[in-house]
Amino acid sequence: MNKLEYKILIVEDNDSMRNGIVSAIRKKNYSVDSSSNGKLGWEKIQKQNYNLVITDIKMPGMNGLDLFRNIKQKYPSIDVILITAYATVDIAVDAMKLGADDFITKPFSISELREKIRLCFERKISQQELSESFTTDNDLIGETECINKIKLMIEKTARTDSPVLISGESGTGKELIAQLVHSNSKRKNNKFLAINCGAISENLLESELFGHEKGSFTGAIKTHIGKFEQCNNGTLLLDEIGEMPLSLQVKLLRVLQSKTFHRVGGEKEITSNFRLIASTNRKLEDEVTKGTFRADLYYRLNVIPITAPPLRQRKEDIPLLVNYILRKKSGDLKRNIPKIQASVMRKLKSYSWPGNVRELENFLERALVFIEEDTFTDELFNFANIGNESSEESNWVPHGDLVITLEKIEREMIVNALTETRGVKQQAANLLNIKPGALYYKMEKYEIDENEY
Ligand SMILES: Nc1ncnc2c1ncn2[C@@H]1O[C@H](COP(=O)(O)OP(=O)(O)OP(=O)(O)O)[C@@H](O)[C@H]1O
Ligand SMILES: [Mg+2]
Repeated sequence: MNKLEYKILIVEDNDSMRNGIVSAIRKKNYSVDSSSNGKLGWEKIQKQNYNLVITDIKMPGMNGLDLFRNIKQKYPSIDVILITAYATVDIAVDAMKLGADDFITKPFSISELREKIRLCFERKISQQELSESFTTDNDLIGETECINKIKLMIEKTARTDSPVLISGESGTGKELIAQLVHSNSKRKNNKFLAINCGAISENLLESELFGHEKGSFTGAIKTHIGKFEQCNNGTLLLDEIGEMPLSLQVKLLRVLQSKTFHRVGGEKEITSNFRLIASTNRKLEDEVTKGTFRADLYYRLNVIPITAPPLRQRKEDIPLLVNYILRKKSGDLKRNIPKIQASVMRKLKSYSWPGNVRELENFLERALVFIEEDTFTDELFNFANIGNESSEESNWVPHGDLVITLEKIEREMIVNALTETRGVKQQAANLLNIKPGALYYKMEKYEIDENEY
């Protein structure tokens, strides 16, 4: 945005004052408009896209404060500077608390006003740059209040270097949130690495984090650069931090305090400017109470806490997620994006998804592989054997794998036999080692159509 694109509206009832301000601002190449009272100003605001409104407080009819309230209610992104007489400074200060961006006291110099405008203009530009570089909308799917809050947290957190502690059940998107904090931060062009503290032994974890010198222990055949170092100017996610052994917790605390450390078996002090994000699906406070997690480390990590909500607490997001996942995975699988029957969507919404978004993702991926039809009907649940179609509110029994039912297999065998015998039922029955009568019966039962073989 350049100055000419930055649109300012002056609302002032005193003609000479208004004209003076307009020409002074125009000289600075902003685009300026004016109104002689609050009511006319409000009409203009509703028609045009202003970035900044500068309004006198005391005006007949709709005064500047009413105008300000209307603006903030309907167009909160418009900045407002109030012009106030000395006697009404208190009012202006109160208005600032309600979201006015600045005020200026009469009499003021033109350069004073220009300076205030410049600040608003620059703030707008930096906001715009931020929103252009901010991309979570594409990735963190959801529009419920809790997800919107997380998006805001990510945006704010990305501007800082403070440690973040992300808690939440498995599959709720903790790693995704960590990635988004990284990719929206100034560290985005450097490394983002994640390490699961629960998946490897204590010694290995230590050398993965700190690195080791060649020969520092049996098997250390060459020098290894650890994650702290690799993430210099980048971001390191310590996943399942609750699983970190106590002895390593002490060492991690020291690194966080000093930002320096030694490789295992090394003498040299190494400095690394990594940003730490930790995640956990346990309640770390409880681990602290139990004594399995150090309180001092907990407080160091928990500077910015973000809690990823379980999917069952944001069921309204399920349709958005389903559509997003189907679109993405269909592309990967090079198939058409299936449509979803309304009843199916209702059922997907009513399930509690104990494995959260990951479970939903896996479920849909399996469905995309096994169901070739262009519309997903209730058959989806039979096929996956996780549905109990009788009740809307029903909770299916979660089922890890897609169960191909015996019937499904039997049906397929019959179709194959019929295909092989070019529809000669007697031969097909022989092939299947069943009586022809049984074959007819099953063909009817499974509604096998002639054009299927
Ligand atoms: N809000 C969301 N929008 C889109 N995808 C999501 C969302 N939340 C999670 N996912 C996806 O769900 C999957 C699981 O997310 P992720 O790995 O971040 O979860 P997690 O909380 O780290 O799980 P775990 O505790 O098991 O490690 C990923 O494929 C991720 O992209
Ligand atoms: Mg994870």
